[in-house]
Amino acid sequence: MGNSPKILVTGGAGYIGAHTVVELMAAGYDPVIVDNLSASDKTLLAGIHQITGKVPNFHQGDCRDKAFLNFVFKTQGPFSCVMHFAAFKSVGESVQKPLLYHQNNVGSLLTLLEVMEEHGVKDFIFSSSCTVYGQPDNIPVDERAPFKRAESPYGATKQLCERILEDVHTTGFRVISLRYFNPIGAHPSAFMGELPIGVPNNLVPFITQTAAGLRKKLTVFGNDYNTPDGSCIRDFIHVVDLADVHVKALVYLAKDSRKNVYDAFNVGTGKGASVLELVNTFIRTTGAALPFVIGPRRPGDVEKVYADPTKVNSALKWSAKYSMEDALKHAWAWEQKLLKSH
Ligand code: NAD
Ligand code: WQD
Repeated sequence: MGNSPKILVTGGAGYIGAHTVVELMAAGYDPVIVDNLSASDKTLLAGIHQITGKVPNFHQGDCRDKAFLNFVFKTQGPFSCVMHFAAFKSVGESVQKPLLYHQNNVGSLLTLLEVMEEHGVKDFIFSSSCTVYGQPDNIPVDERAPFKRAESPYGATKQLCERILEDVHTTGFRVISLRYFNPIGAHPSAFMGELPIGVPNNLVPFITQTAAGLRKKLTVFGNDYNTPDGSCIRDFIHVVDLADVHVKALVYLAKDSRKNVYDAFNVGTGKGASVLELVNTFIRTTGAALPFVIGPRRPGDVEKVYADPTKVNSALKWSAKYSMEDALKHAWAWEQKLLKSH
């Protein structure tokens, strides 16, 4: 790709990373993917190829493996920025396997930062999460809200990673942490989408798998919360909008001449939607049958959280373009495509 800036994308075979690779290519960047395929396979890499017509530049390996990373930096660099998606993300699993989550999520970050330092790469964009806030006191939540004690080891790893990045930025790193709210949806082409391993934990893949007949019924976890319809409220954001904010963050960092940067941005739509609203929107927009029952609350769930996206809107000149209807239509088209291919 000639002189296009090279961007290292860790976790680029996963859900958000793969969608970001497509947006990076469309914006004229040259992404280099590193992934150990521990939570994915090559399906989304094939999707990138189908959408862009380009074979993704993929290197299989672990972000905790310093020799591997050094090799990638030496042979594929120089990188103008690193986007770090690689991590484990299941809240429930993190409670069962806290050591694994700290090892992988914090360990990967530390190794990556060391290798970046050795190769003089400064710019870093981190996949953080609204989980760092816990149940915030004020909603919508803005970036100044204090971190509450994390509800899970997963949440703790995101808080720790942000702290590490804040600490090291004074030594020459230029860092943006993007705190994603609830990513949903799939690429509008239906060549790429969420591909959970085993039983999905997250709401939308559980819905699409149920509507596809792969699961018997959806359980809505609680309708006795202090919300208008009693179900939890979240800020659901289309994965392509989320991918796009990474490109905007790159542009922002490139324009910023400071030697040390640490900045965190909420990435959400700013609109809260309830679980029941989402379920009804899915049924209405897709026409699919979705059997569901109301069940007990899921331990650890926060009642409601949605973003104040003022900072990301103004500083990164980004706002969400897709609606919840779009996201659900795209997720359903992706699920149907998967069904046909099996
Ligand atoms: P994903 O599981 O689809 O993708 C993560 C990818 O990282 C996978 O392909 C996996 O194989 C890879 N990976 C994991 N550990 C690795 C390692 N040590 N070395 C190399 N590759 C490794 O997850 P996603 O939904 O695309 O999430 C991407 C990032 O965004 C994660 O950091 C996650 O914590 C964060 N995040 C996700 C959500 C969400 O709901 N999906 C919300 C907020 C934040
Ligand atoms: C959404 C809502 C459930 C499944 C998680 C992480 C968070 C971030 C995003 C990574 C909740 C309800 C779900 C089901 C349901 N990830 N639900 N039935 O828990 O908001 O956020 O993913 O950083 O850190 O915690 O997302 O999709 O699991 O749930 O009723 O079968 O849907 O109770 O209210 P969550 P989710």
